Amino acid sequence: MKYYGICYYPELYDEEVREQYLQEDIALMKKTGFNVVRIAEFTWCLMEPEEGRYEFDWLEHYIDELGKNGIYSVLCTPTAAPPVWMAKKYPEICYLDNYGQKRSYGGRHFKCNNNPVMREKSRLICEKLGERFRKNPYILGFQVDNELGQEGTAFCSCPVCQAKFRGWVREKYGTVENLNQCWKTLNWGQTYPSFDEVEAPRLGRHQTPNDVFGFLGTDSPSLRLDWRRFVSDSIIEYYEMQRETLKKYTDKPVTNNTTHLCTNKVEWAKLLKNSEVTGVDHYPGARSENKDQSSFIYSHARGIRNSSFWLLETLCGGGQGNWAYQGMAMQTPGTFRENVAYAYASGADVITLFKYAVFAGGFEQLGSAFLDIDRVPRRRAEEFRLASEDMKKYMDIVEKTEIRADVAIVFNFDSLWDAEIKPIHKDFVYEDYLHELYYSLIRLGINVDVIDDEKPLDGYKLVILPFGMVMPDAFGEKVRKFTEAGGTFAATCVSFAKDPYANGVMGSALPIGMEDFFGMRVGEVEPVFPETVSKVAADGKVYTSKYWQEVLELTMGAEAEGAFADTFRQGECVISRHSYGKGTAIYMGTVFENAEMTDYVAGLLKRLGIRRAPVDLSDHGIDVVTRTDGEKNWYFVFNSRPYSVSVRLDGTFNDRMSGQMVSGTAEIPAKQFMVLE
Ligand code: GAL
Repeated sequence: MKYYGICYYPELYDEEVREQYLQEDIALMKKTGFNVVRIAEFTWCLMEPEEGRYEFDWLEHYIDELGKNGIYSVLCTPTAAPPVWMAKKYPEICYLDNYGQKRSYGGRHFKCNNNPVMREKSRLICEKLGERFRKNPYILGFQVDNELGQEGTAFCSCPVCQAKFRGWVREKYGTVENLNQCWKTLNWGQTYPSFDEVEAPRLGRHQTPNDVFGFLGTDSPSLRLDWRRFVSDSIIEYYEMQRETLKKYTDKPVTNNTTHLCTNKVEWAKLLKNSEVTGVDHYPGARSENKDQSSFIYSHARGIRNSSFWLLETLCGGGQGNWAYQGMAMQTPGTFRENVAYAYASGADVITLFKYAVFAGGFEQLGSAFLDIDRVPRRRAEEFRLASEDMKKYMDIVEKTEIRADVAIVFNFDSLWDAEIKPIHKDFVYEDYLHELYYSLIRLGINVDVIDDEKPLDGYKLVILPFGMVMPDAFGEKVRKFTEAGGTFAATCVSFAKDPYANGVMGSALPIGMEDFFGMRVGEVEPVFPETVSKVAADGKVYTSKYWQEVLELTMGAEAEGAFADTFRQGECVISRHSYGKGTAIYMGTVFENAEMTDYVAGLLKRLGIRRAPVDLSDHGIDVVTRTDGEKNWYFVFNSRPYSVSVRLDGTFNDRMSGQMVSGTAEIPAKQFMVLE
């Protein structure tokens, strides 16, 4: 069963009209085809108006009213927004940034997740919610907090966090001598006399991947990497505390609406390891003309546990009040209808749009919603109703099939963080490159899984590790087994380049510990700037190096598959291939632009016999998701362009959406899709 619905905030309506609006809303939700809401994530001040006095009647009333009308609730814990009384009475729960500035109440996400008072109050509210709603038949599941680690809530540097970090480090390294050794603190003479001197690094106040360059500082990369791991562990611990508390009372799924890599402070596969479902928020661009971004995020959400996911927030309008500190575009008609189908085709089990009605007040006042401020349902509302009509045509296919991928891209948080801490190139952003690589692969009409490095590799034909700078030893072992058994493993440049403390290893060949596996070692390396860019000859074609290039020395049996085609390096190896067991280890000493990468990988897929969807994807507005029942395939083909596109098909198919047979060339109107069987 799939769930379709919206984030709902009836508590914000004025009291005189609240009941009336509630009933009107329920009627419109039913008409639209909604059967779920996500509710209550910012209502702590209503749930606990005074310390220790809990009130849930109001909430139960909404949940029951909705439920009696066939609308389930994903009930949220309210801990992203502690009440004013709490912050006033316990000021130590407030976040302290690393410039010593305290955040104050008045908005949300101003708390420290490690603070013991915060922890205890959060635990208690979960106990109370669990007790009260354990038997409520209308609860579909629970969401913990809201977008953990978002809005800069990760890097709190208050005394509690600092002390906890010291404890974390002590436990990891045992002795300070060991820490000094692993972190190589003798560089610039910064040896720690004892653990007591270890302090959080001075990160930029608003550090994000995009502004990191303005805030680098020069302290130890090992310290910075461990700090980021600690921060992630702290958030996970806080989440787990809430999850475990709820689980005492319920067997319904508990998850978090993670923000994928928007906030890259939480290792999200680890965060959700013990949860029944993966929760994710994703806002596709209102005027986006392809599905690249959504595809990557949904693939990664699936990749965490090889499962479907809950899309707990997604775009349903434009207008004022957006986080870009300016207004936001409205969609081209058809966009939302198509987005809904795309999310289900890509593995969503639950979709809750953000949000039902425009907020009159608060930071997000007048921002995007299903219903405008005057409560008149307009074009968007109708579009979402049509989306539920569409479901009737294709949902049986989604329910009996799954997405299988022959190709996986490995994502690794340590490498992401390391690339921020010690950038290799000012244009290189790890997660952007993963996106880039992913797009160049899906343009070939294949499904691609984005997986965490801990995930088993069985079943894939080709596994690609892009820029895996800091990989755990266990990953190297897994890759060897996978390749030995017949898999093809391809790493790009700057992979296996550092030890687990984000340092180099003196005397060791690169890739560290993998020379025999790749049959080569890395020689001279450099970034690719306009004055260092090179041509690369491989597969009878010529490509162009991007970001980084490495000369490969074929020391242990690898063959050259690609060589530099110009400059003083002409003829030197840059792509190697090595037989290992029954499989193949490829190392790319550079990467290429999108289209060139697509071209290069096409050759690989051909050699590996990986099948591509029978749909021409030469227009970047066309996307395909292939679903299978193991014997037969179904192709969901989307046109994200605001105009109609004709698409060549290899075969004759029945299109579920139009009910017509299509063959040869099919015309897909603007913002519409076909479901080919
Ligand atoms: C999300 C957040 C929501 C809302 C939304 C606005 O990040 O969880 O509460 O702020 O963005 O687009």
